[in-house]
Amino acid sequence: MNLLLFGAPGTGKGTQSSFLISQYKLHHISTGDLFRKALGEKTPLGLKAQSYMDRGELVPDSIVIALIEEVLADIKSGFILDGFPRTLAQAEALDSLLKNITLDLDKVLYLKVPESILIERIVGRRVAEKSGHVYHIKFNPPLKKGVCDKSGEKLIHRNDDREEVVKQRLKAYREQTEPLIEYYREKNILFELDGCGSPKEVFPRLQLMLSIS
Ligand code: AP5
Repeated sequence: MNLLLFGAPGTGKGTQSSFLISQYKLHHISTGDLFRKALGEKTPLGLKAQSYMDRGELVPDSIVIALIEEVLADIKSGFILDGFPRTLAQAEALDSLLKNITLDLDKVLYLKVPESILIERIVGRRVAEKSGHVYHIKFNPPLKKGVCDKSGEKLIHRNDDREEVVKQRLKAYREQTEPLIEYYREKNILFELDGCGSPKEVFPRLQLMLSIS
């Protein structure tokens, strides 16, 4: 099963991916996480991506595609793509990369959430940088304020989760990423689902989509 979790920033792609990974043992490929890891290690890739991310803009296609090419070369099958592709050029590059390694994208699961809800979700997000655990100050608070329940790390507020940057990220999504809905609809692999409600209410809807052949 090779999946793409698709949706605007804050729709719950990372949260639902973590449920899918533990249930179905899939590889999780998140370009946002890969860029943040590279940035934490101060690699040239991370430093190149940083200015775009901090402004809420998309990292240029050439950088993202080269990164995905490297990651996919190590993965045989059974993955969830989260946050890639985000432009038509990336989607076309993905098609040809998968063709070269004789894999297919089986389903695109499109999480739909109104924009007013997204801003509250993103601005309230807190993350454990090293372990990647994700919380929300209102919808999923840690037991002890500011501390990850699982790793004990200090929780941080992502630089690009400030409201003014979030608005720019949503604009980039509307202008550059939303057209991919039609791209995947035409391929007959797009499954749309309501991403509102708690994460545990959303997950069974995802599972239902996975059971449809
Ligand atoms: P990336 O890290 O991919 O960010 P994103 O797509 O903007 O998505 P988010 O991580 O904000 O949201 P999510 O959908 O995963 O939501 P989550 O589950 O965390 O990208 C960051 C940047 O990297 C981009 O802006 C760009 O610059 C660059 N980049 C990355 N990929 C790129 C690409 N392919 N091309 C070019 N540039 C690229 O949930 C959000 C919050 O809501 C959490 O606090 C969570 O606890 C809470 N929550 C989740 N679900 C629910 C629910 N059902 N109810 C209530 N709260 C919920």
